[in-house]
Amino acid sequence: MKIAHSLSAIALGLTLATQVNAAEFTFAKSIKPNDNTLVLFLDTDSQVANFNYLKPETQTHLNKVIEFSDFKAGYGKTLEVIAPNGSDHQRILLVGLGEQPKLDAAKMAKLGGNVHAKLQSAKQENVSLDFSELKDSAINAKYAAEFAHGANLRDHRFEQYKKEQDSHVVNYTLDVENLDQAVKTHKLLQSIEQGVFLARDLTSEVATEMTPVDFAKAAKELKKLGVKITVLEPKQLKKLGMGALEAVGRGSEEGARLVVAHYQGNKKPPIALVGKGITFDSGGYSLKTGASIARMKSDMAGAAAVLGTVKAMALAKADTNVVAVMGMAANMVSQFAVAPGDVVRTAEGLSVEIVNTDAEGRLVLSDAMWYARDKYKPSIMVDVATLTGSKIRAVGNDYAAVFSDDDTLVDQLTVAGKQVNENLWRLPLGYEDALKSDIADLKNIGSHGPGATTAASFLQNFAGDTRWVHIDIAGNALNSKAKDELAEGGTGYGVRLLSNWLLNNAQ
Ligand code: BES
Ligand code: ZN
Ligand code: MG
Repeated sequence: MKIAHSLSAIALGLTLATQVNAAEFTFAKSIKPNDNTLVLFLDTDSQVANFNYLKPETQTHLNKVIEFSDFKAGYGKTLEVIAPNGSDHQRILLVGLGEQPKLDAAKMAKLGGNVHAKLQSAKQENVSLDFSELKDSAINAKYAAEFAHGANLRDHRFEQYKKEQDSHVVNYTLDVENLDQAVKTHKLLQSIEQGVFLARDLTSEVATEMTPVDFAKAAKELKKLGVKITVLEPKQLKKLGMGALEAVGRGSEEGARLVVAHYQGNKKPPIALVGKGITFDSGGYSLKTGASIARMKSDMAGAAAVLGTVKAMALAKADTNVVAVMGMAANMVSQFAVAPGDVVRTAEGLSVEIVNTDAEGRLVLSDAMWYARDKYKPSIMVDVATLTGSKIRAVGNDYAAVFSDDDTLVDQLTVAGKQVNENLWRLPLGYEDALKSDIADLKNIGSHGPGATTAASFLQNFAGDTRWVHIDIAGNALNSKAKDELAEGGTGYGVRLLSNWLLNNAQ
């Protein structure tokens, strides 16, 4: 126990403090002539002759290669060219932007991720990026910053348990028109990245090293940024009547925690972000079997996402008042664990029959939502949770599912998500009658209807009159393969979506 504890402190330190950055970005107003790689962004109408700083023989060579290889500069298409002797660069990478009107920030970030992966694995060191085909100076600055954002997001990998860590650094110089604007956008995106990286690291960390207490410790790191942190222990949870959260934590020795992180960037009523924080979901006595249990260290990704969002807002010194309320517990089996059929009382006052101990997320959320409302009187409450396998069957891993009666909020969040490649798809609430229990006010699984919906409808009982949205991120939290701007491992899904929404929708 002692050893495990000190190991966990070391692991946490490594995860959260000493991440090596393998991509560096400098914005400039011209191309460095002697970098080993030059990246030229082309759209479907571009001609290489437009890059008039290239030597004539380099231009001729490029035009020939483009012609013979039939390169059309479609979005995401690349062509690597070894530059002829006498050129200023050793190699030139042509990157297709497709048709410019169809391009957007999200596509630029994806492109950044994919181009970085290519350059990093090819061990390129100094890379100049020419964005001059993006003629509008606002677009040019914004898209260059988004490209860097995507590259940096792709770069962040969880490798602390590997003997060989890839530490190859790519130094990027981004040639932009409006330097001030590019740097300003880059800075804001970097704040968001730090929130994403925190969420990813918390999600990727193995369950034994990321217990509710470890998570609370990680949250306390945000105090340095002026974030107010509160941690409630099992005794206090019981005293406040939070019997559902307390019960889920009972199967592990340290028990449940409620962790609260409040960044108050203005004096308006706060927006509450409520996160499901199951540090390991064994299913409890309704034990998970086979492959379904293997990735359940990531069942705290909702809590990680809302904490990451608070970090992002604090770093950005955003004009927003946001409080993350995280229900933390390890859903384990022990002689003290909740038994199927037990009845618990929530702080809301509703009793719940726990028919299935694997439907634990809605239990911890019910008390966390109550606490958020009771303590903070938020104008809006958004909960984020890896809640149901049913959600994955409905919309897969490339979408998160959104549930709400509030059309305006669903629209706002869907738009915000689309802009950052975190797409939402709306599913219905309803089937409330499926949650009727013979012996309590509610039961924790639906007797009929779609599982993702009955889970959402269960939560609705704890939203009161507060404007409320539920986001089910099951399947979004942990990537088995790197893709676009996402590395392998924890994805930090939700941080970019929520940050973008908070920054763009005045309270
Ligand atoms: N943590 C799971 C949901 C989940 C499944 C997340 C797969 C990520 C990937 C959740 O606690 C759970 O087990 N839900 C059950 C509910 C059922 C017992 C009503 C499910 O979805 O099967
Ligand atoms: Zn779970
Ligand atoms: Mg479960």
